[in-house]
Amino acid sequence: MASGKLGQALTAREIFSLVSTDLEKVEAELRLQTSGSADAVGQIAHYLQGNGGKRLRPILLLVTCRLFQAPSPDAIRLAAVVELIHTATLVHDDVIDEARTRRGKPSANVVWGNHTSVLAGDWLYMQAFQIALRQRSFEILDLLITLTQQMVDGELLQLERIGRIDISEPDSMELIDRKTASLFSACTKLGGLAGGATSRDVDLLADFGWNLGMAFQLIDDILDFTSRESVLGKPVGNDLREGKVTLPLIYALDQATADERAAIQTVLDDAAYTRVPFSQILRMVENYGGIERTRLRARQFTSKATELLAAFPDSPSRRALQAATGLVADRDR
Ligand code: IPE
Ligand code: IPE
Ligand code: MG
Ligand code: MG
Repeated sequence: MASGKLGQALTAREIFSLVSTDLEKVEAELRLQTSGSADAVGQIAHYLQGNGGKRLRPILLLVTCRLFQAPSPDAIRLAAVVELIHTATLVHDDVIDEARTRRGKPSANVVWGNHTSVLAGDWLYMQAFQIALRQRSFEILDLLITLTQQMVDGELLQLERIGRIDISEPDSMELIDRKTASLFSACTKLGGLAGGATSRDVDLLADFGWNLGMAFQLIDDILDFTSRESVLGKPVGNDLREGKVTLPLIYALDQATADERAAIQTVLDDAAYTRVPFSQILRMVENYGGIERTRLRARQFTSKATELLAAFPDSPSRRALQAATGLVADRDR
């Protein structure tokens, strides 16, 4: 296990070192793009950027681009665009979810309130589109608009289903496709486009990113049960408290007794772990193999992602994408 962790850290560093200079430019672009804004928006953007975040989406875009060529200034700007879109969705998501914590700090809605956070999210979306407009590419604008609408669809679907215990596996997959995999897919597709890939390769990369995004969210749903707030940067047990019945719980519910089902319903009704403790829910999900089954499902997506990469010749970038796939499956935050 210890050597596994060490190997994991080394590959993460390898991936990072491949694009670290590019990423510095992305960070500079992000600072530049959010500094001309109204006070509160600038503060929120700097607050979130300063509080960390894995920068996974720009990294994916940059590494995919590097399969073909070193990122141009246009590619760097697109990497900033996807991180801005991601940030905007997080700001809005935390308002909708009434979240208290993001990236280990009080979330923007807690610090600035809902009204300011909604407007800041809008501003960040528009800033992303303004940067994207500089590409003068209808294809890219179309992709980003469709993507943003898909992500909003995902949040709307999630809202519709909040508090419902009768969520099915396909329901859950549909949601993950919209709210998370769509952005991952857009990142790898944009990376291909920025690298000048053929349309066949761009399609393969979009598919690769989609599979990775599906796995990423499934692992996020697992971590919500198994991780700790100090590692994750957001509270655990949060999904059920927020009324979200995710795949580990869906699998457990397949086998749960009437009493166990009632315990889950109680948490949904209370929107808190007051009458039923989180530890009881966790034990049940673990006992019924909900975590293990979800992990297997995530691995099916990462295996598919790895298979798709086989279409590209071996290179440091392809190896980095392969390593990123492994990291997504084994990540702990
Ligand atoms: C959070 O994404 C939203 C999900 C899709 C689960 P990340 O876990 O990539 O968030 P940051 O950017 O690293 O904070
Ligand atoms: C997924 O939503 C991320 C978005 C598309 C904004 P979640 O609500 O599951 O994400 P977290 O758990 O707040 O990061
Ligand atoms: Mg949320
Ligand atoms: Mg979540």
